[in-house]
Amino acid sequence: MATIGIFDSGCGGLSVYRELIKVLPQEQYHYFSDNAHCPYGEKTPLYIQRRGRFITEFLLDKGADIIVVACNTATAAAIATLRAEYPDVPFVGMEPAVKPAALGTHTGVIGVLATAGTLKGSKYLTTRGLYEDNVRIVEHVGQGFVELVEAGKLDGPETVETVRASLKPLLAAGADTIVLGCTHYPFLQPVIERLSGPDVRVIDPAPAVARQTVHVLEQRGIVTGVGPFSVELHASGDPTALRRIFALVDAGRQTIDNE
Ligand code: DGL
Repeated sequence: MATIGIFDSGCGGLSVYRELIKVLPQEQYHYFSDNAHCPYGEKTPLYIQRRGRFITEFLLDKGADIIVVACNTATAAAIATLRAEYPDVPFVGMEPAVKPAALGTHTGVIGVLATAGTLKGSKYLTTRGLYEDNVRIVEHVGQGFVELVEAGKLDGPETVETVRASLKPLLAAGADTIVLGCTHYPFLQPVIERLSGPDVRVIDPAPAVARQTVHVLEQRGIVTGVGPFSVELHASGDPTALRRIFALVDAGRQTIDNE
C-alpha cells in the first residue's frame, strides 16, 4: 500500500484526489489544504516555496511515499525547488493541458484559465511556446474563482456572473476548447460548460495527473493495490471549506479529520 500526500492552497486539489482514488482506490491518502495562506495565485514564488517545504515535511512525517502537488500555481513556483531539496521524494505536478487542447481544436483557438502565477511560470510559457505557432492561445485569470470554490459557492447568480466575466474574452476570441489551469476550477465546470455552450470542450487535466501518479509509483517500485483505503484531511486554517468540497467528491467514504 502506498501513502500518497496531496497538497493545494485550498480544497481545489480535491479535483485531483477524486481522480486519484479512481485509479488508486486502495491507498492511504493525506490531503493538506493550505487555506490559511490561500490564494497562492498572487504570492511570490519564494513564499510558495516556503509553504511547499513546510507541507512536504508535514506529509513526509505522515509517511508519504509520493507527493502530488495538486496545484498549478505551486507546481509552477515550487516543484523544481522541492525536487532539488528532496531528491529521494517523487513529486508529481500539474501539467497545463495545452497539448490535448491544441490537438483537438477545430477553430484553432484555445482558451486557458489559470491563476496569474501559473500564467507567468516558465513551465506554462515553455508549453505554450510549443503550440502557439499552430493555434491561437487566449489566456485569462479566473478572477474570483478560487474564492468562490473556497466559499462553497459552486453555482448561483454571483458565481454565474463571476464566471461569465472571465469566460467572455475566451469565447469572444472564438475558443472552442478551454483548459482549466487551476485545480479549483473543475468545481465550477458545470457553470463553465453551461455558459460556454455545447460546442466548447472543457479540459480538466486531473485524470492525466492521476495516470502520471500511477506511472511514477510503478517506476519507483512502490507497491499499490493492497489496501486498505484511508484518507485524512488536514488544513492550515478553518477546515469547513475542505469538509464541504470533500463531501461532494467522496460521499460515503470514511474520513478522519485531524488538522
Ligand atoms: N488550486 C490552485 C491552482 O491550481 C491555486 C489557486 C490559488 O490559490 O490561487 O493553481
